[in-house]
Amino acid sequence: MAITDVPRAKTGKRNIPRALAASRLFWDRVMGPGYNKRVLRIGREFYGAFVAMLVEGGDIPPAARILDVGSGPGLVTLLLAEAYPLAQVTGIDHSPRQVRAANRMLSREPISNCGFEVGNAVDLPYAEGSFDVVVSTFSLSCWPQITRGLEEIRRVLVPDGSAFIVDADSGSTQEEIRRFTTTYAAAGSCRRLQEWFTRRFVFGPAVAIDGDTGEAMAAAAGFGRVVMEKRRGLPFFRLILRK
Ligand SMILES: C[S@@+](CC[C@H](N)C(=O)[O-])C[C@H]1O[C@@H](n2cnc3c(N)ncnc32)[C@H](O)[C@@H]1O
Repeated sequence: MAITDVPRAKTGKRNIPRALAASRLFWDRVMGPGYNKRVLRIGREFYGAFVAMLVEGGDIPPAARILDVGSGPGLVTLLLAEAYPLAQVTGIDHSPRQVRAANRMLSREPISNCGFEVGNAVDLPYAEGSFDVVVSTFSLSCWPQITRGLEEIRRVLVPDGSAFIVDADSGSTQEEIRRFTTTYAAAGSCRRLQEWFTRRFVFGPAVAIDGDTGEAMAAAAGFGRVVMEKRRGLPFFRLILRK
């Protein structure tokens, strides 16, 4: 199997969970609205700490042009715009409904250095070298061709640009997943169902990848420097990439 392919299930049949995760319509109609409600309930405090962790150790120029790929409800994007008031931050998502939700949130904030656009991670609508920094959170494993998306991120970065990517790690321990799943599911209704869904779908091997695979994909996408980090106790991996 080429690492850029959507993996097939062990049975050799089509990987339906991954095909759903990669579907724009699925995010538009099914996953997006529920996911966004949960993000808002989990709230700014959690996401503020998360954004700090996302770019920790990164030397982000104050007036950087920052792109957030797969921005969803846009909270990470907004918090970055708040943290870097001189920067210009753009969120892009393939789901028009997610972009509308992000724009609604933006319209309630006194923030003028942030915007949202519709577009696909595997075919970014920007010229080469358009951004100093690219971030992406919990979106990578949804892309239909992950390495292709990483190549696109590399293309739109300036020559010494950096990317910071966080995603669910299928190699996490059961305890890491259990703790996160409980917090995440507690922010929604039907807690039991949510816990099952998060464990099986978000962290399951049919959809999620592990940090080592993410690292190999970033190297295959041509990044000059690739660092993969796994935080103890958290079921995520972080990729720190240098063009
Ligand atoms: C789990 S949400 C994460 C949203 C946000 N980054 C966050 O951390 O809250 C994943 C988002 O990625 C978007 N997405 C999935 N595949 C995409 C693709 N190929 N191009 C752009 N966005 C994509 C989905 O529409 C969804 O809004």
